[in-house]
Amino acid sequence: MYNYGLIKFKKFGTDELGYLSAIEEMRDIPFHIKRVYFITDVPPETIRGFHAHRVLRQVLICMQGSVTIKIYNGNEKTEIVLDQTDVGLYLGPMTWREMSNFSKDCVLTVLASEYYSEDDYIRDYDMYLKECETFYK
Ligand code: TYD
Repeated sequence: MYNYGLIKFKKFGTDELGYLSAIEEMRDIPFHIKRVYFITDVPPETIRGFHAHRVLRQVLICMQGSVTIKIYNGNEKTEIVLDQTDVGLYLGPMTWREMSNFSKDCVLTVLASEYYSEDDYIRDYDMYLKECETFYK
């Protein structure tokens, strides 16, 4: 999977019983998971993100509610709505992301391939475009 893409997880159950999804590293997730974090209680007008990572790989899963993820991969811009627990959005290195339209109840879980490192962030869009020139050539 290059750069970004949707991953479908297994989902078991029925409307009567309820549902269960399972996620296994190196099977459903294309990396070893070193870190998990959650984003909650985002006010409706707030937009988060505005960065890319040089090395980090992530899978975003909306556990409750919905959120819109805008992605730029140095070549094309895409917008993806996450609103299902059995779908993950893979974001590879050098993908610029902006997260908006958080529903009030949104719980966005992120599985990450590396421990937190501020040095891995590119938070300046012009710098991101400049680094894209070498990364995507
Ligand atoms: P950031 O990744 O900038 O959030 P977003 O892209 O969703 O707006 O992180 C927000 C703050 O949280 C920032 O000060 C760094 C801190 N943080 C950690 O300490 N550990 C982590 O694993 C993450 C993801 C963020």
